[in-house]
Amino acid sequence: MSDINLKTKATGSAGGKVILLGEHAVVHGVSALAMGLFNKVSVIAQKCLGPTHLTVSAWNFDATTLGDRPEDIALSNLCIELGVGTSGVALTGDATLPARAGLGASAAIATAAAKALSIFNGLSINQQRIFNAVQASEKVFHGNPSGLDAATVTAQGVIKFSKKTGPISLSCPAPALVIINSLERGETKKTVSLFARQLKNDLKEGSRRLNKIEELVATGERHLLKGDMSNLGKVMSENHEHLRWFGVSSDRLNDICKISIEAGAMGAKLTGGGGGGCAIALVDNESRSNVIDAVETSGFQVVPT
Ligand code: MEV
Repeated sequence: MSDINLKTKATGSAGGKVILLGEHAVVHGVSALAMGLFNKVSVIAQKCLGPTHLTVSAWNFDATTLGDRPEDIALSNLCIELGVGTSGVALTGDATLPARAGLGASAAIATAAAKALSIFNGLSINQQRIFNAVQASEKVFHGNPSGLDAATVTAQGVIKFSKKTGPISLSCPAPALVIINSLERGETKKTVSLFARQLKNDLKEGSRRLNKIEELVATGERHLLKGDMSNLGKVMSENHEHLRWFGVSSDRLNDICKISIEAGAMGAKLTGGGGGGCAIALVDNESRSNVIDAVETSGFQVVPT
């Protein structure tokens, strides 16, 4: 790549994501439904001396391709997979999305950085190359990423995703959600291995539940396409119970779901990796403010969308 193509400054951005149905099961081949969020992460790339590095002051986050912490290795993997070298670029990120809350922050920052680095280096924005680079970075945080997060952070609306089919856009309005932060940190790598261990420990029951989640995703998709939010909510709550069985929920996430339903939500479940992070409640115009009041009164935080 010649220096002639190098820009002096380039920017990239991506949104966050919520998983409506099927997280974790998607790692084991099941389909999932997810939706892109407007909350943004953006990255500016500028020339510098020394190793390529990334800072996001809103998250108190930094990474350098010279280091050996997970975040450093993730950034190196991203640069190497993109084919842009690992030195000479200062990446400065900004985010309105909370980090480590199950809303796709790691995939969003990697996507925004990959776009900025591509433009900075005179490369075209190639979706597949960016997806592969984000996956190389996500492997460090997720262990065995399905690709759902990397696909959803660039999605405009709701997608159906499986490892076999990749993302398929659904033409339906976005369901009305309240996103509620448990204010506990979730660690996706840990919950992904917890889920796998539970499946292995009780393969018969685990497989039955994986099949059930596949059915819930198919039923949920039909309800969503018909605009039947009441039944979509029931399916979401049922999905949460399966996630609990697999050990990837937490007391606080269970409390959020219970409080939201009691306040009138049509359904509620954890979203993303679990073990902390966020839950989502499906609401309508009448229940939205009741749900927000109830969860805030109980000490949880509503994520502005
Ligand atoms: C994390 O946002 C979603 C998981 O299903 C992991 C993955 O799909 O790679 C838990």
